[in-house]
Amino acid sequence: MGYRVVVVGATGNVGREMLNILAERQFPVDELAALASRRSLGTEVSFGDKTLTTQDLATFDFTGWDMALFAVGSSATKDYAPKAAAAGCVVIDNSSLYRYDPDIPLIVPECNPQAIHGYAKKNIIANPNCSTAQMVVALKPLHDRAKIKRVVVSTYQSVSGAGKDGMDELWDQTKAVYNPTSEHPPKTFQKQIAFNVIPHIDVFMEDGSTKEEWKMVAETKKIVDPAIKVTATCVRVPVFVGHSESVNIEFEDFLDEDEARDILREAPGVMVIDKREAGGYVTPVECVGDFATFISRIRQDSTIENGLNLWCVSDNLRKGAALNAVQIAELLGREVLKKG
Ligand SMILES: NC(=O)c1ccc[n+]([C@@H]2O[C@H](COP(=O)([O-])OP(=O)(O)OC[C@H]3O[C@@H](n4cnc5c(N)ncnc54)[C@H](OP(=O)(O)O)[C@@H]3O)[C@@H](O)[C@H]2O)c1
Repeated sequence: MGYRVVVVGATGNVGREMLNILAERQFPVDELAALASRRSLGTEVSFGDKTLTTQDLATFDFTGWDMALFAVGSSATKDYAPKAAAAGCVVIDNSSLYRYDPDIPLIVPECNPQAIHGYAKKNIIANPNCSTAQMVVALKPLHDRAKIKRVVVSTYQSVSGAGKDGMDELWDQTKAVYNPTSEHPPKTFQKQIAFNVIPHIDVFMEDGSTKEEWKMVAETKKIVDPAIKVTATCVRVPVFVGHSESVNIEFEDFLDEDEARDILREAPGVMVIDKREAGGYVTPVECVGDFATFISRIRQDSTIENGLNLWCVSDNLRKGAALNAVQIAELLGREVLKKG
């Protein structure tokens, strides 16, 4: 016997990936409902070799459904996730709405699978921000060995992190650069994104950091260890899919770069590609469609006592969103619902 699963936001970047990944990983689905807004009522989406017709989230009855994977943004999540949860359907949410609620677990299955049992308080589980998810997969096994004190991270985040509209804006602006008769002023992003980089993702906070940067700090603490200090600079770059991060880590204990490489080679969800030669590292275009978080450029930071640098790349629509949500669904099935 399998599960009755709902994908909410099935016409979006993350929702479509959820459908692909549920099929690719042969998640035990008995029945699947694909939901979006009324605008997309009747739109067809693919689930493996099947075609599903999207239904309207506003009128959907969650009673009798086992789990709902939400990928619709905070405002629609606020309106509908509590209804799904109250109907007995476990919500796995991709928005930032519930991530910092102490009664809702925030889970990356490679790092804190034990947190799954906390789902029962509100029938809701949160999925982290895309930049956090890929970084913590690499940090956790290193932290277990040498205790991380501080992380300095700079991100290079693709436009798909801003949804379908972000991808369209990069595409349209890129074409407009070669065809000056068509204009595409910034709408989704604050400045031109084609052939440019923008050090601003989400809103500004009082201390001058952005909400995206704050999320990386708060979520790393909740998932890995509240004692870890994190400082982040998040930058949008003109890449369609795949987030990259330059990560500097300071440890309590000495950790040799070769041992770090060995630890990461064994770590779940991590793939080390680290040859010290031209092309011996991973770039975002190479990670698209993959499940792994790729780690390259592992090297000692000789400016501090116990420091390492590394380069971390992953498909933000997969590990950063849809894959992690499906992994949570698998964990929930294995540890709690036990149907599959
Ligand atoms: N992209 C990433 O890397 C990433 C990573 C982590 C988390 N997330 C989060 O995942 C969520 C979805 O992101 P995305 O990139 O997939 O966005 P997207 O491509 O813009 O898709 C948004 C989806 O939400 C649906 N939707 C929006 N408002 C709705 C409403 N009122 N009622 C019903 N459906 C509604 C849309 O349906 P229509 O087509 O009908 O408008 C569409 O299916 C967001 O919370 C985002 O922050 C994204």
